[in-house]
Amino acid sequence: MTSREIRQAFLDFFKSKGHQIVPSAPVVVKNDPTLMFTNAGMNQFKDLFLGEAAIKYPRVADTQRCLRVSGKHNDLEEVGIDTYHHTLFEMLGNWSFGDYFKKEAIEWAWELLTEVFKLDKDRLYVTIFEGDASEGLQRDLEAFDLWKALIAEDRILLGNKKDNFWEMGDTGPCGPCSEIHYDMRSDEERAKVPGQELVNADDPQVIEIWNLVFMQFNRLKDKSLKSLPAKHVDTGMGFERLVRCIQGKTSNYDTDVFQPLIQYIATKSGIVYGTDEKTDIAMRVLSDHIRAVSFAIADGQLPSNNKAGYVIRRILRRAVRYAYTFLNFKSPFIHELVPVLAEQFKGVFDELYSQQDFVEKVVLEEEVSFLRTLTTGIQRFENYVVDQKSIDGNFAFELFDTYGFPIDLTDLLAREQGLTVDMLGFEQALLAQKERSRAATAIDTSDWVLVSENQDTEFVGYDALSSQTEIVKYRKVSAKGKEQFQLVLSVTPFYAEGGGQVGDTGYIRSLETSEKIEIVDTKKENGLIIHFVNQLPSVLTGDFEAVVDISKRKDSEANHSATHLLHAALKQVLGDHVNQKGSLVSPDVLRFDISHFAKMSYEEIKQVEDIVNAKIREDIPLKEERNVPYQKAIESGVTALFGEKYGDHVRVITFDDHYSKELCGGTHVRATGQIGFFKIVSESAVAAGVRRIEAITGTKAQQVIREYFELVDNMKGMLNNPKDFVSALSKVIDENGALRKEIERNIVEKSLKMREELESKFERIGDINFLSMVVDLPNADAVKTLAYALKGAVDRLFLVLGADFDGKPSLTVMISDDLAKEKNLNAGNIVRELAKEIQGGGGGQPFFATAGGKDSAGLPKAIERAREFVK
Ligand code: ALA
Repeated sequence: MTSREIRQAFLDFFKSKGHQIVPSAPVVVKNDPTLMFTNAGMNQFKDLFLGEAAIKYPRVADTQRCLRVSGKHNDLEEVGIDTYHHTLFEMLGNWSFGDYFKKEAIEWAWELLTEVFKLDKDRLYVTIFEGDASEGLQRDLEAFDLWKALIAEDRILLGNKKDNFWEMGDTGPCGPCSEIHYDMRSDEERAKVPGQELVNADDPQVIEIWNLVFMQFNRLKDKSLKSLPAKHVDTGMGFERLVRCIQGKTSNYDTDVFQPLIQYIATKSGIVYGTDEKTDIAMRVLSDHIRAVSFAIADGQLPSNNKAGYVIRRILRRAVRYAYTFLNFKSPFIHELVPVLAEQFKGVFDELYSQQDFVEKVVLEEEVSFLRTLTTGIQRFENYVVDQKSIDGNFAFELFDTYGFPIDLTDLLAREQGLTVDMLGFEQALLAQKERSRAATAIDTSDWVLVSENQDTEFVGYDALSSQTEIVKYRKVSAKGKEQFQLVLSVTPFYAEGGGQVGDTGYIRSLETSEKIEIVDTKKENGLIIHFVNQLPSVLTGDFEAVVDISKRKDSEANHSATHLLHAALKQVLGDHVNQKGSLVSPDVLRFDISHFAKMSYEEIKQVEDIVNAKIREDIPLKEERNVPYQKAIESGVTALFGEKYGDHVRVITFDDHYSKELCGGTHVRATGQIGFFKIVSESAVAAGVRRIEAITGTKAQQVIREYFELVDNMKGMLNNPKDFVSALSKVIDENGALRKEIERNIVEKSLKMREELESKFERIGDINFLSMVVDLPNADAVKTLAYALKGAVDRLFLVLGADFDGKPSLTVMISDDLAKEKNLNAGNIVRELAKEIQGGGGGQPFFATAGGKDSAGLPKAIERAREFVK
């Protein structure tokens, strides 16, 4: 079976068991502060497990793209070295939300593996949870009995909490699990060592393929376990591993999932895969990492210098590093893999195929800029290793952090030179950095405290800006020493930050006590709307009135609708490759990032503004459709965003069926006329292939335009209101330039005249012509001109000039070259010493130096002291 057929067979199997097949969520996570990337198929269903969202389909299955490169589940350093860990992998999963439980989960898993995929029963092993007394958790005898009916008892092994109690993160849904392992070894080897001994023992040929989790608990912040409202099934099967077992390969990389990439790399590098350990690792690293990087970018996470963006940047750099060192790619190469990958995932994850050019461009730009850094890093390494016996942990960390050297690679390079790396020191430096960034971003969130018995919540903010409500629950959050509370309300008109639009602000007022509490922000966490307050109401129970700040909401709405008009106009003017890459919609300004490869010209900006303003004047009424089936919406030609997780029913916002139609959860004006006016205020680059447009509308535009008029009026007034302002202003500028030149000429003349006067004032001290005095000149240039003129006219000169430029004292020391050499005088040292009198400092060359200071009153003293240096 090909990998495509295997994936399809999995989905078909669970469809036949009554499961709804759903699309993969994006690999980049929004709306969950505990997670950067999707690391398991169940992530997108977290709130269903916790009972925080309504269950639409009790049985669901999918293939989910996952990344395990940060946080609790992190496989990055293993990748490429071994043959069965990956940064990005597909997790095939089936779920029951309060529907079937262990029996069906186990029996179906067995049926699929042994009857559909025809895996050899003699190579299969399963594990069950042995229990954990410290947590009061029983051995999973139910799973044991179910397995016993299917597989020989000696193939059912007990597993500890680490292997057989699955947890999503430090907090969140969790439960005992039962894993299925497959033994790929030869008959000979299997006869020697029984498979039982190698399960969960890091043997590359005896690997876990499927994990069946029986979700029963929520791990709370205080580490305790709380039973979930219902029992669920969450399974995850490693697709690449499954393919390997079915295709009978000893490495995931030998399957048709990775071979197209590996073969492309092999051809381009001229190195055959399978001939050398080091080049093999490098090819595996490349073929793995490009998948993670490409899908992250396609799902909206660009490489950057912080958080999720930094993780992606580091993965890409790791790949570049391997390509450069072992495959001899000294110029950008990795981006060439994007089309190969896109083709492979066509029809599976089309996000990549449809953004192929963009993703390729972003990868290329990253490669170009990193290859520059890399050369410096290699230089650093080569300079360092000379005379070293071992590589200091801190240095290894510097290479890692600044130059993107993965530690396994530094180790390899070191060994080639007969050196070792201080791994402990490296780990410590890494830990210290993690600690620093954790401390900088640490948010301490306590567990929810329930206030009301009814836990149902409803959002009414599309239709109302105030409502009667109750507090459902609250919790405390502290970050950077600041304490806040989060509230969940039974009915809320508050729009939670999302789709770029900022969260509503406003207040709640207790109907019992009349106490008013300000709501400073509203955000979404998974499906839950969370209201931020700086203090809790003194009485939490009873009815409240919840009221949104109308004027801010209206301004945000104008900006939000304007982004839709803008998006459509940009596609018209720049082309269909323009996709939204990010947006911010606040009351004051809208920011819109798009994929586009060139700076927008003035003409293009004007065209876009004209289209948007024409659409505003048309006063097109808003058409808002809720609960449109996703497929139907897509077929009607609606614009959907990449990296966005859409449900099977969506909301469609239309301004003229033939102009703008987008999937959107935000709030909008009732007709475009309410936007008032639209003006782009800036256009700039944010990343490779991404342009940022900032614009204003409505009241803000009115205010800014008024300010511009005032500014121009003021300027005109200053020029006595000329008819043609621009030519009047340029005349003033020309005149100003001419006058400045004339003044400079006058100053030079004055300096030269002064030279004539001063020539006679020199005093002969020994064989030196000495002069020290304060002169009346307007600037440093004038003094310099004078000093040089005197130097040309007087030989064996020792000159000190003081001057006061509008309260700023200065000193200049000039000594004839021969004199300076002969007597070992240094104008720089002298001026520094004299400058002490004017509370200043300076320096220069042995024959010419200057100093500035703060205290003009010290000038005479400084001039007086000059004599000391010729005595
Ligand atoms: N959520 C389970 C896992 O990731 C299935 O292993």
